Amino acid sequence: MTYDLLIRGGTVVTSREVLSVDIAVSGGRIAALGHDLGPATREIDATGKIVVPGGIDSHVHIAQPQGGGVVMADGFDSATRSAICGGTTTVLPFCLQEDDRTMREVLTEYHAKAEGQSWCDVSFHLIVTDPTPSLLGQELPALIEDGYTSFKVFMTYEGLRLDDHEILLTMDCAREHGALVMVHCENEDAIRFLVDKHLARGDVAPKFHATTRPVPVEREATNRALSLSEIVDTPVVIVHVSNGAAIDEIRRARGWGVKVTAETCPQYLVLTEDDLDREGWEGAKYVCSPPPRDRQAQADCWAAIQDGTFDLFSSDHCPFVFESDTGKKTPDGLKSFRRIPNGIPGIETRLPILFSEGVRTGRIGLTEFVRLGATNHAKSYGLYPQKGEIAVGSDADIAIWDPSLTRPITQDRLHHGSDYTPFEGIEITGWPVMTILGGAVIVEDGEPVGDVPRGRYLKRDRSPLVADAS
Ligand code: URP
Ligand code: ZN
Ligand code: ZN
Repeated sequence: MTYDLLIRGGTVVTSREVLSVDIAVSGGRIAALGHDLGPATREIDATGKIVVPGGIDSHVHIAQPQGGGVVMADGFDSATRSAICGGTTTVLPFCLQEDDRTMREVLTEYHAKAEGQSWCDVSFHLIVTDPTPSLLGQELPALIEDGYTSFKVFMTYEGLRLDDHEILLTMDCAREHGALVMVHCENEDAIRFLVDKHLARGDVAPKFHATTRPVPVEREATNRALSLSEIVDTPVVIVHVSNGAAIDEIRRARGWGVKVTAETCPQYLVLTEDDLDREGWEGAKYVCSPPPRDRQAQADCWAAIQDGTFDLFSSDHCPFVFESDTGKKTPDGLKSFRRIPNGIPGIETRLPILFSEGVRTGRIGLTEFVRLGATNHAKSYGLYPQKGEIAVGSDADIAIWDPSLTRPITQDRLHHGSDYTPFEGIEITGWPVMTILGGAVIVEDGEPVGDVPRGRYLKRDRSPLVADAS
């Protein structure tokens, strides 16, 4: 038979092994792994290259309504174009519950925004901001059944946060119907207390975003989220963990038997709170929550990557334009850190940072890179083995990396809608040069090819973490 595609001569990395095999693709799926596989319509010579499953970024914010005249820098077109150029082939953005609208209505809108605009595959988490009896009793159970099998809750942000009782109710709904709950752990009351102190002193610069969200704010909330998960007896994902104290809480909770999945992000490995203290209002470029910490916290995050405490490495891509009154320089944001939109872009730089700072430095191996960047996301969120693996039968979502290509991260080479990258100037060795989605080459020489976005919506299974727990 003639395959559609043959990738020859590369070093193939699965979630468990590093292999010298060719990959044959047929009908959008991986059809065979081995040698002398036979003819193909298109052959790619991957000699000297690393061939991995396309990345999965399970924590991104795209076209999420902000309020207060603030607008996200990316729609699905630019965000997913940026994703594929960074070696990512599946993203999981959030659908935010809105007042006076059903979640279903809002989801329909997100689907419309993504449809025909997405260069990679897309699936949605939900964000629960108001766990009413009808949401918990009718809407969420039906949505979970329909493949929206995970939701995020916030312990911070005015207007979005849930109190402990509401979190318990939401977790209970997740337990009963088989969904996975992701928690943003920061104590909003403690933040408010510290913000008031800062504002009373006239401390309004971006750097005070970090000092009003110090480590204990995150540590306490992490402990509380884990305790609530233990009380309900349902698994939990602690997202964007930034420091050693929160990591210790996660390790201890595993000791009590809590089923916790933990996520960290590039900003906690390569940025520090000193970045928020840059000249003028430049620090606003680094405002995200939790904030980047110090060198010790970076080292603690690396140690937790190395010892397997972290399962997921996501971008928390949440992009705003810096030079815009609808972005980081919103009129209110220019008056005080309190109103600077929270979030930074990073969908395209996530995996290059992990490859360069992780694999090239010897901190992690290639299989860890694959698990942290792809496989564990698919496993956690009900997409495995369709996604996140190089195996016969899996979707042919593949990224080919040049492990010795060295160049710095620069805004002018990125494809997102922001006008800056917080990772500007970081020297990277190892870049993705080709990305393949469902057997079609969509990035060549690091640039998108093709006129038509090929991304599809992915209906997800329940997380095996939830099934295993019941
Ligand atoms: O600052 C951040 N992380 N913005 C995105 C929203 C969130 O909390 O994940
Ligand atoms: Zn968050
Ligand atoms: Zn986020």
